[in-house]
Amino acid sequence: MKAKIKSFLNKKKKKKLVCLTSYSKSTSQILDRYCDLVLVGDSLANVLYGMKNTHRLNIETMINHTKSVSLGVKKSLLVVDMPKDSYKNPKLAIKNAKKILKETHCDAIKIENNFNNLNIVKAFKKSKINVMGHIGYTPQFKKKFKVEGKTKSEQKKLIRQALEIEKAGAFSIVLECVSKSTAKKITNLLKIPTIGIGSSKSCDGQILVTDDLLGASGFYPKFVKKYANLEKIIDNAIKEFSKDVKSSKFPKNENSF
Ligand code: KIV
Repeated sequence: MKAKIKSFLNKKKKKKLVCLTSYSKSTSQILDRYCDLVLVGDSLANVLYGMKNTHRLNIETMINHTKSVSLGVKKSLLVVDMPKDSYKNPKLAIKNAKKILKETHCDAIKIENNFNNLNIVKAFKKSKINVMGHIGYTPQFKKKFKVEGKTKSEQKKLIRQALEIEKAGAFSIVLECVSKSTAKKITNLLKIPTIGIGSSKSCDGQILVTDDLLGASGFYPKFVKKYANLEKIIDNAIKEFSKDVKSSKFPKNENSF
């Protein structure tokens, strides 16, 4: 196991894990100063490409963005989301994961778990490919947004799923929009770190879509804290530029040759 993964695992119960998404070098070089893990999330389908879901994303798009992200990542764990159709069966999953690893030199890949793809996690483990799981609200498989694990039966199902994913060999697991008490129970039961998004502070670490926390995506559900309003900052700057061009205030002599 890579030293970077070991040190990530060792932080469970000692330090909270800081994780964020990135789709390019300009962001990842800043994230790398503060993050334990940088994820090239397939949320880029919505955030960058304006798609209504993540279902039609292809592996080449993920590879191209990861190549850019990797230029800015020196110390954090670099993890890449596998697009929905790229891991439909173990053979395809291994072929595509190996392509991603070879072309991007990332540390690990992430898949979303439904109740039928434990064999994919096992296949990765067998091929010594570091894999992160993802349960709760899984946009690749769920049609409608819903907080998961609120009822006793849902809680039982999620706990069993998390334990099975750990046993199958995942090194960590994302809990997306899982109720507080279920997230706490899963985190206490697992030996591997849980990374929450909308799943309370009980998780071993937290992840958000960076564009959301920067106020640049236009998507701000309850679980997002907006740490900046980049949309406003960019709007102001572009408005100023537009005014300056129209009034011939820009470029000045000092900007000219
Ligand atoms: O695609 C993504 O960005 C993700 C995170 C929200 C966990 O899966």
